[in-house]
Amino acid sequence: MKLAGKVALVTGSSQGIGQAIAIRLAEAGAQVVINYRSHPEGADETLAKVRAAGGDCHPAEGYCDNDRGYSIGADLGMVDDVRRLIAESVAHYGRLDVLVNNAGIEKNAPFWEVTEKDFDAVINVNLKGVFFATQAMVQHLIETQRPGKIINISSVHEELPFPNFAAYCASKGGLKMLTRDLSVELAPYGITINNVAPGAIETPINTKLLNDAEKLGALLKNIPLGRLGQPKDVSGLVEFLASGDADYITGSTFFVDGGLTWNYQEQ
Ligand code: BGC
Repeated sequence: MKLAGKVALVTGSSQGIGQAIAIRLAEAGAQVVINYRSHPEGADETLAKVRAAGGDCHPAEGYCDNDRGYSIGADLGMVDDVRRLIAESVAHYGRLDVLVNNAGIEKNAPFWEVTEKDFDAVINVNLKGVFFATQAMVQHLIETQRPGKIINISSVHEELPFPNFAAYCASKGGLKMLTRDLSVELAPYGITINNVAPGAIETPINTKLLNDAEKLGALLKNIPLGRLGQPKDVSGLVEFLASGDADYITGSTFFVDGGLTWNYQEQ
């Protein structure tokens, strides 16, 4: 149980990669705060699995001994909500040790048609939300004089262009430099920060693509391992980065992309 005694918050954990991470951290022994914005039913599903993973639950009697999971609704695109999320997590469990900044959105449009509203929506959740969630987490760790771990779920598009997703790329590129900068600034406090950069993972963010046989076929041709990733391909790495085995790792990005990023071949 690598994460026994640790408390972790996973933003955007009502579905997809975030849900898999929440369950995986619970399986490793952590108490997990689940967060959702628009899918409370998904958060309930995550919570049930987190509690089941905890092992000390009695579903027939309807209770768990050890309070392994707790769910909080909050919009990562709103700084007040972000601060409340961290404060409520700390109030509930008494502390936080691990923050997984997973919540993210994307909007598809040619650059010259992107509206200010869509730009703000993407940047607010993917970059501003991460900035202020991390800030609130760091304030808590410094106040309580404890080390901690921050893991950002970035994307291959912190490195790789993604035409028609300019704001998304800008947000993930920003996340790359935020992590590099904070790795230096937070190291004296024993706080590490790393990025996990998934490629094409089969999750709700990709629903449109998954239903478009032609686009999906073209994408698969670009993935050397020849398949889409699954959320569990990402969650194991997050468990490792959240554990003591990763104490000496900070400021890095880890790609989980089946080889997509560096694939170049002449036909
Ligand atoms: C995006 C997906 C995309 C994948 C690979 C992810 O960051 O959210 O929409 O399919 O990168 O390009």
